[in-house]
Amino acid sequence: MVEIFGDSIALARAAANHVLKQCHESVAQHGRFNVALSGGSTPQTLYKLLADEPIPWAKSHFFFTDERHVPPDHPQSNYRLAHEAMFSRAPVPEQNVQRIPGETPSAAAAAHAYEQTLRTHFGATLPRFELVLLGLGEDGHTASIFPRSEVLHETERLVAAPWVEQLNSYRITLTLPVLNNGASVVFLVSGEQKAEVLREVLQTESNPARYPAQAIRPNSGNLLWLVDQAAARLLR
Ligand code: 6PG
Repeated sequence: MVEIFGDSIALARAAANHVLKQCHESVAQHGRFNVALSGGSTPQTLYKLLADEPIPWAKSHFFFTDERHVPPDHPQSNYRLAHEAMFSRAPVPEQNVQRIPGETPSAAAAAHAYEQTLRTHFGATLPRFELVLLGLGEDGHTASIFPRSEVLHETERLVAAPWVEQLNSYRITLTLPVLNNGASVVFLVSGEQKAEVLREVLQTESNPARYPAQAIRPNSGNLLWLVDQAAARLLR
């Protein structure tokens, strides 16, 4: 399902409404809400909006789909963006925000540590987030699963630490088994610069090695694309 909104503000507002809906349904059904937050810059407006929303913060648990191999106060840290836009402005208990320890010298050790964090929270079963928020890179990547990445074939681990040649750096990322186990998986895509890749991902034959975002096929949850008109410009 693809929903198109006039501009990035309307997109963020719609995304916030979706987060609120998922959150209240999950707390009503399970007593808590588990969400994996996307990195990148697109969700910044969404996070700012959410900070002022009536979210049951004490029952909401925030994780990350991926992180750069940097400390939490680094300009490129996904945690830092979410902290500045949302966590620093909302009454969320500190223990309810579980960031990926990007400061760990070994990215592999950071991935292992985060896997333990997930297992502690979710138990031995495959983590099931009520909501997974994802972005789309211009090269078709999502989370930190990049074209031709070996992570595309990961079936056991929950968190991986791939070397990303294109970036000349390590990343830490949730793997497809976790991402595809989400009850609601939502892509947020905004801007003219995403129009071509969005068309390729949605309207050309499946080729996840080239477009990892095409590997996002929730095994029982639903997949929703929230996009603005600028990004949707080339869609038939
Ligand atoms: C990251 C993200 C990544 C992001 C896309 C889109 O760590 O960069 O998780 O998957 O969602 O690259 O990024 P923008 O929102 O900045 O365009």
